[in-house]
Amino acid sequence: MQKALGSRVHLDDMTNKHAVEFNNYIADLLEFKEVKDLDEYEQHFRTSRLQHCINVSYYSYRIASVIGADPKKSARAGLLHDLFHYDWHKDKTPQLHAFYHPKLALENARKIVHLSSCEEDAILKHMWPLYWGMPSYRESVAVTMADKYAASLEVCYQWGTFFAGKIYKLFAYGNN
Ligand SMILES: [Fe+2]
Ligand SMILES: [Fe+2]
Repeated sequence: MQKALGSRVHLDDMTNKHAVEFNNYIADLLEFKEVKDLDEYEQHFRTSRLQHCINVSYYSYRIASVIGADPKKSARAGLLHDLFHYDWHKDKTPQLHAFYHPKLALENARKIVHLSSCEEDAILKHMWPLYWGMPSYRESVAVTMADKYAASLEVCYQWGTFFAGKIYKLFAYGNN
């Protein structure tokens, strides 16, 4: 684990207080096979689902301290909020993916750890306003905000690097 996309904090830097605290909050979750396996799935255009979950977890942790939520619960719910193992771009689901995957992520998360009621709420409602009901806890607000922020960064960053690469090649070939 190196960084959350868009963050200057190296999450392996044990001299950084945010990195140390954040690692302490989620280290046990990263050991689960169910979490590690998220690295095999693409979430947003070349960003793996594991990296997306780390991004959301880290930003949930940071947002939590601003809005008065519990940073540990926010970080843990952020890491587990997309704990599902199918390719949402291709695989068929019983309901629309946007409605279905929060319920599945909650079900999967319950199988590996005990969740507090605010962690459950944060996972289930992270797609707000698409999912039923308003987030009931500050931790849920932190996770839903972090998810939108991280997803926007991932899409913009990847499209940015994609087009920058194309432009670079265009000029590189032009100089030959
Ligand atoms: Fe999601
Ligand atoms: Fe997400």
